[in-house]
Amino acid sequence: MRVVLAYSGGLDTTVATKWLQERYGAEVITVTVDVGQGEDFEEIRERALGSGASKHYFIDGKERFLKEYVSMCIKANGLYEGAYPLSSALSRPLIAEEVAKIALREDADAVAHGCTGKGNDQVRFDVTFQAVAPGLKIIAPVREWNMSRDKEIEYALEKGLPIKVKESRFSIDENLWGRSIEAGELEDPWAEPPREAFKYVAPLEDAPDEPEEVTIGFREGVPTSLNGEEKSLGEIIGELNRIGGRHGFGVIDHIEDRIVGLKSREVYEAPAALLLIMAHRDLEKMVLGRRLLDFKAEVERLWANMVYSGLWKDPLMDALHAFINQTQQNVNGEVRIKLYKGSAKVVGRRAEKPLYSPELITYTSRSVFDQRAGEAFSKLWGLETMLSRIKHKTEEKLSAKP
Ligand code: ARG
Repeated sequence: MRVVLAYSGGLDTTVATKWLQERYGAEVITVTVDVGQGEDFEEIRERALGSGASKHYFIDGKERFLKEYVSMCIKANGLYEGAYPLSSALSRPLIAEEVAKIALREDADAVAHGCTGKGNDQVRFDVTFQAVAPGLKIIAPVREWNMSRDKEIEYALEKGLPIKVKESRFSIDENLWGRSIEAGELEDPWAEPPREAFKYVAPLEDAPDEPEEVTIGFREGVPTSLNGEEKSLGEIIGELNRIGGRHGFGVIDHIEDRIVGLKSREVYEAPAALLLIMAHRDLEKMVLGRRLLDFKAEVERLWANMVYSGLWKDPLMDALHAFINQTQQNVNGEVRIKLYKGSAKVVGRRAEKPLYSPELITYTSRSVFDQRAGEAFSKLWGLETMLSRIKHKTEEKLSAKP
């Protein structure tokens, strides 16, 4: 049997590489996809081969991740439960698809992932594998072996597997869109995350005493410039992670509802993702009408739920994407955000083709708004309300007596 394993280089997948060989007598091919986790991929290759993989593939998925996934998340103002910019969730369908492609090319019998049986990631991998390569068996060693972390380390040492000498006490999943931090003392929802949990975001006490402003430019809903300079989306995200993080902005600490029905305390740092969504949403308000904004908010909620629950490959996603893209044609302009001591606030915006109309809204004599129209408008706007009260609730009419 030949198995292609989604290999991160962490403890679970390193132990899984060996375990698949022993348990299934399988030949194991490992695949690592770079989605911006900033790891040493040569070291990961050596670890895979050192654990008995017959072959290792490295795929640079960063451009695809930015273009197809992160850009959509910005256009969709994608925040699960209003908080989480879906960084881990968005990367899974891409990784799973790349792994499945290699499995098909290598004529493998199965694909495998290192997810646990109580998380979301298993669903995202399983559902995507099943959608893009329905004929392949799916193996999830961690779900099968039921080993605790200590047992895994014991197994790794016994088999002489090249695991990292110092594993973090947190379970971390990182990519260019954000960093998820779980486990350790974070499992106690009352405990404040310690400073060493974070990589980008500085503790508030260390944030500079001077505020800093950034200007983010958008073209068709996608960020294309920072402080007036044209830059790639990858560069903009990298810089905003640094700037936002330096000012102590970008931590999300919330109680999250997992697909499987468990509540979990999740901690993330994603300064760039939060800043970009904040700016994008603000610019949309300059450009899109209220009915479109209102309906889009419904679509956004649905979009975030679909991504979170692993349904990226569902046809409903394609339909939602068509709608969202259609709304972005005129989302061109710039947004100013001020960062200071852990906070970020939009302080200004301008759009190329705003619906915002200064000549109509102004209270000065430059106004071209004909205020006489207001009288008839109110009369008709309130007509139904008045009629209902007259016809149905006459007894509730205000009495003339004090
Ligand atoms: N709760 C997040 C999600 O479901 C993050 C999961 C990240 N995984 C991890 N090993 N820390 O998308």
